[in-house]
Amino acid sequence: MIEGRITRISGPIVYAEGLDGCGLYDVVDVGNSKLIGEIIRLQEGAAVIQVYEDTTGMTIGEKVVSRLRPLALCLGPGLIGKIYDGIQRPLENMYEETGAFLLSGQRSAPLDEQKKFHFVPSLEQNDEISSGVVLGTVQETESIIHKIMVPPLTRGKKLTKIFPEGDYTINDTIAETELGEKLQLSQYWPVRVPRPYVEKLSVSEPLMTGQRVIDVFFPLSKGGTAAIPGGFGTGKTMTQHAIAKWCDADVIVYIGCGERGNEMTDVLSEFPTLIDPRTGRSLMERTILIANTSNMPVAAREVSLYSGITLAEYYRDMGMAVAIMADSTSRWAEALRELSGRMEEMPAEEGFPAYLPTRLAEFYERAGRVTTLCSKEGSVSIIGAVSPPGGDFSEPVTQHTKRFTRCFWALDRELANARHYPAIGWIESYSEYAAEVEEWWNRLDPRWAEVRLQALDLLKREQRLLQIVRLIGPDALPATDRLILIVAEMIKNGFLQQSAFDDIDVYSVPEKQIMILSLIMQFYIGALDIIKKGVSLSKVSLLPVREEIIRIKTSVPNDNLEQIAVVAKHLAEQFDSLEQQYRKVDVR
Ligand SMILES: Nc1ncnc2c1ncn2[C@@H]1O[C@H](COP(=O)(O)OP(=O)(O)O)[C@@H](O)[C@H]1O
Ligand SMILES: [Mg+2]
Repeated sequence: MIEGRITRISGPIVYAEGLDGCGLYDVVDVGNSKLIGEIIRLQEGAAVIQVYEDTTGMTIGEKVVSRLRPLALCLGPGLIGKIYDGIQRPLENMYEETGAFLLSGQRSAPLDEQKKFHFVPSLEQNDEISSGVVLGTVQETESIIHKIMVPPLTRGKKLTKIFPEGDYTINDTIAETELGEKLQLSQYWPVRVPRPYVEKLSVSEPLMTGQRVIDVFFPLSKGGTAAIPGGFGTGKTMTQHAIAKWCDADVIVYIGCGERGNEMTDVLSEFPTLIDPRTGRSLMERTILIANTSNMPVAAREVSLYSGITLAEYYRDMGMAVAIMADSTSRWAEALRELSGRMEEMPAEEGFPAYLPTRLAEFYERAGRVTTLCSKEGSVSIIGAVSPPGGDFSEPVTQHTKRFTRCFWALDRELANARHYPAIGWIESYSEYAAEVEEWWNRLDPRWAEVRLQALDLLKREQRLLQIVRLIGPDALPATDRLILIVAEMIKNGFLQQSAFDDIDVYSVPEKQIMILSLIMQFYIGALDIIKKGVSLSKVSLLPVREEIIRIKTSVPNDNLEQIAVVAKHLAEQFDSLEQQYRKVDVR
């Protein structure tokens, strides 16, 4: 053990000397109350330490003790359903112990050390092993089978002992290698180091979110990255929550990072009551929460992103699809800025440290679909909210995030003001995954690529027409152009707008998404045809089926899509009868 002394304190940044022999990023116990800190700069025994707890009351001269190991997470069964702070302290247990306010220096084991899990071995004595190989399984929740894997840094190549099926705690030995290494249900991994895998794979399967504007217009792949930039109140948190609730990932890691505490409370009270449509079980049975609200120490906020991604990688390594949400990465960047300022580093753009882009890149780089060490396919998808001050997307965090993410779901202030939710703007947003997921969609419904482009194109034309309308009014436009305005309205009301508060509309299965959009485009093509034949636009716009199509999103439940065929029939009938009326008029 190496012991040093505190020489200077600047909020969460503490300077110490006498730490020769320590490594960069070693964990240290700081001061008499043994606060958790991490060495982030070293110069001949003088260290700069980032402290994850409140340093109020600490004095110069108190001791600093290095634990000679990096900041690591405890990974094993029991993680699911937990709520942690940025350094994996279980908030619920600590609440039970001391009440609502975290005490500095307070400790609690990250995982329940008493609980027994039923372990079923899948290897035998003398079996060869390597990093990541599955030793056996534990049923962690009703829907999650937790694979117990050989920790990546294990050196032994052979099992000399594996314990029989039975109940074990996370610290019980369940296997031994020929080098005498003891393996348990749990393992440690340093948060700042990406967990190893065999290779990165292409990202061709979409992460279905049940949100139509995302899945059809701006799809995200399993293993992909997305940014949700938007000013205050435009719906970042609501969008993240909707994805966390309804996306088809196996495990969700939700990082509440520097935002208001009551938003985390919403998650905590709502998630356990919601049912996962795929498993029929509570959504909390696939979710891990990391809460670092605005009133908690900034250094812990800085590390919370890495803690979250490490948890995600651990479940990825078992061959699962994991989705991680960070709300908001801007608050994380602000933590970086504050820490950097206190270390008196040279500031770059808007006071952020020069390494902001590198750090963002490192974070998003940990997303991906991979072949895991146990030869399974697993993925980590990252969805980061960005809250640019004043909603100005030209600020550094938004700009750099844009470089490292391939989906950009730009929230539009005007849409939010008009209560068009989700307020994802269709002109500014994009997804670079559209080409990659096309084949997947083709298998489900080959109309996807076509109606998607048609609808996006129509919305672009609407945008241009609206500029003309602003100058000279709608009446000067030809009927075909006015039809575009009408259909664009249908796309917005009947397809893009989606209420998070409507029982049916809250999420749409992919089949329904395409059926709605196809019907709207069918309406457009049919209408265009009869207008060209001479039928007046007002007759077309008064067809009752128009309203019927717009209402499908809230009237047709996801498990009763046959009802949409009825609407399609009405569409054909009403166009037919309109055309016939017109013919009669024509003959006379
Ligand atoms: N999909 C949605 N459906 C209904 N209302 C929404 C939706 N998205 C956002 N809202 C409304 O917008 C408000 C602000 O959203 P929120 O996600 O908290 O914004 P932000 O996190 O960007 O500050 C919500 O309280 C809600 O009333
Ligand atoms: Mg928010």
